[in-house]
Amino acid sequence: MKLNSLFIVLDGGDGAGTTTHSHLLKGFLENKDFKVHLTREPSRNKIGVLLREFLRNKDIPATTDALLFAADRDLHYHNEIKKKLDEGYIVISDRFIESSIIYQSVQSNKISIDWIKQINKFVGKPDLTIILDIDPKIALARKTDKALEKFEDIGFLNKVRHLYLTRAEQEGYCIVNTDDIIELVQEKIQNIVIAKLD
Ligand code: TYD
Repeated sequence: MKLNSLFIVLDGGDGAGTTTHSHLLKGFLENKDFKVHLTREPSRNKIGVLLREFLRNKDIPATTDALLFAADRDLHYHNEIKKKLDEGYIVISDRFIESSIIYQSVQSNKISIDWIKQINKFVGKPDLTIILDIDPKIALARKTDKALEKFEDIGFLNKVRHLYLTRAEQEGYCIVNTDDIIELVQEKIQNIVIAKLD
């Protein structure tokens, strides 16, 4: 078993495939004999469970969402991610701070990216952030669950996509377009991770 702590985040708009590709990446790295811990946000702790409920509720102020996502992340990072990294695991998180920066700042003009960074400032930075990109029209057409969450709206997701791409360029994140055969997309992600591990 290889010990090699690395914190990887897959992020992107709804329907871009962060969940599918996080699972496939975990399998790929385990086959290479790495210890891998897969997690996600909203997390599995009580704040994360509350946030999943709030994703169906349009009456929650964007500021409340932002503060709860930050609290969820703080707990998630210190009680789970950091511990696994210290034990030598590769941690893959399906979404992390970039989701808050993008979704909550698009949700409300009152919310600045700087403020989101401030309230999230006690969590560690990922070593590698990969942005999965998809046209929201294709993403929403892929959805089988007809009960849409509050962010699953084409106009909103177009703004989300634009901001992900702008920030990825500013921050030097890798962008992978996911409108292709899953195996080919996954191979691109694996190559980015392997290059980072090397
Ligand atoms: P998603 O990851 O798409 O999970 P599922 O496919 O199980 O519904 O849903 C999470 C939603 O939460 C997504 O719309 C993005 C949103 N979100 C934020 O707005 N801010 C955040 O900080 C995080 C982590 C997620």
